[in-house]
Amino acid sequence: MQVIKPKKYFEGEFSLPGDKSITHRAVMLNACANGEAVIENALTGEDCLSTAACMRELGATVRVDGNKIYVKGVSRFESGKRLNCGNSGTTIRLLTGLVAGKGIRAELYGDDSLSTRPMKRVSEPLALLGANVCTTDGKAPLFVSPATLVGREISLQISSAQVKSAILLAGLGADGITRVIEPIKSRDHTERMLQAMGAKLRVDGNAVEIERSELHAIDVSVPSDISSAAYFMALGALKGKTLCKNVGVNPTRTGILTAFDKLGVNYSLLNRHVSGGEEIADILVEQSKLQAIELGGEIIPALIDELPLIALLCAFANGESRIYGAKELRVKESDRIKTTAELINRIGGDCLETDDGFIIVGKPSLKGGRVNSYLDHRIAMTAAVGLIASKDGGEIENAECCAISFPDFFEKLAL
Ligand code: S3P
Repeated sequence: MQVIKPKKYFEGEFSLPGDKSITHRAVMLNACANGEAVIENALTGEDCLSTAACMRELGATVRVDGNKIYVKGVSRFESGKRLNCGNSGTTIRLLTGLVAGKGIRAELYGDDSLSTRPMKRVSEPLALLGANVCTTDGKAPLFVSPATLVGREISLQISSAQVKSAILLAGLGADGITRVIEPIKSRDHTERMLQAMGAKLRVDGNAVEIERSELHAIDVSVPSDISSAAYFMALGALKGKTLCKNVGVNPTRTGILTAFDKLGVNYSLLNRHVSGGEEIADILVEQSKLQAIELGGEIIPALIDELPLIALLCAFANGESRIYGAKELRVKESDRIKTTAELINRIGGDCLETDDGFIIVGKPSLKGGRVNSYLDHRIAMTAAVGLIASKDGGEIENAECCAISFPDFFEKLAL
C-alpha cells in the first residue's frame, strides 16, 4: 500500500519515461526488419518488456540496457510459439496482426486483466483478409494458424490504434492493397514508423493503405510519453508549477491540451521541434482556476488514456462537468468508468457514472481517503494526483501496478 501525503505546493522540472506506444512499435517493427537498431529513451516498463520478450521468443535479438533497447531483426519468425503478452493490449493486438501476416502458427495470451478484454475487434477484421485467428469466447488466448492473406478495404466501427495497427501489420504480408478506414483518426505512430522503415504506405485523411513490404531497421529516439507527463501537468495545474521536458506532442495524442483549454489551465509549449518524425515540446503548466467542461465526440481518441485524470481535474473545477462518448473506457485495463468514479468519490468528490462517461460536480477541495487501483496503472497514478491535491491525503491499494507504464512514478513525485 502506498501512503500519499497532501502537498500545499508542487513544483519541478521533470524528465518522463519514453512513450509506451512508440516503444512497442519500435521494438516490434525492428524485430522483423533487415538490420540492427538502437532505441533510445525507450520505456522499459512491464508492458514494453512483454513486447520485447515476445519478439525474442519469435527469434529476434532484443537486449535491454537501462533505457536503451538494442534490436536485431529476424527475416522469418519461429512458428509454434506461446507468446506471453502480460497486461498489454497493444502487445497482443498488434502482434496478432503481425504474426497472421507472417503466415506462422502462434498462441498469444496474457494476465487475468488482458484475458477479459475484447479480441474479436482484431480477429474479425483479420479474418476478412483471410487470416485464421481463433479467440477463446471473444477473448485471449488467441490462436493464429498459417493462412494466405489478401488485402481489401476494411471500415472500422470504432477508432482504435491497436486494431488499425493490427490490420496494417497483417497487410505487410498480404497480397494486394490493404486499406483501413477509421471513423475518427486514432494515434498514428504505426503509420509514421512504417513509412520511416520503407513500407509502401499511404495516408489519406482517416484512411491508410499498405502493400506487402520489407522493412529496414531504424534507430529511434523515443519522446517522453504525454500520457505519463499528464500526471505532472495536472499537479502543476492544481498545485503550483511544472515543466515536463521533451514530451511527444503528436496531434493524435494532444487531446489533453484541448481539455486544458476548456478547463482554463494555464499552460504553454516551449522548444517545439520535430525529431524522428514526431513532434516534441516542453510543457509548462501553472496553477489555474478550473472551470467545468463538456467533453466528448471526436476528441475522445486523442485523450482516451488521460480521461481518468481529466475527470479528476473536473472534480476540482467550478461547476458540473459532463464527459460523454467514452464507452471504450469500460474495456481498458479496468472498467475505467467504474474505477475512476469510485476513485473520485472515495476521496470526497462527486462523480456519477453514466453509460459512456461521467457527470462530475466540482468542489473547491477534496478530503482524501483510501483508493484501490484495481491493478490499473492509470487509476493508481490518477489517485496519487488526487491525494496530493487533497486536504488530508490517503493511501493507494495495489499501487505497484504503476510499473506497467511508469516504473519510477512514486520516486519522481518525491513523496
Ligand atoms: C494504444 C492505443 C489505445 C490506448 C492504449 C495504447 C496503442 O488503445 O488506449 O493505451 O499503443 O496503439 P485502443 O486502440 O484500444 O484505443
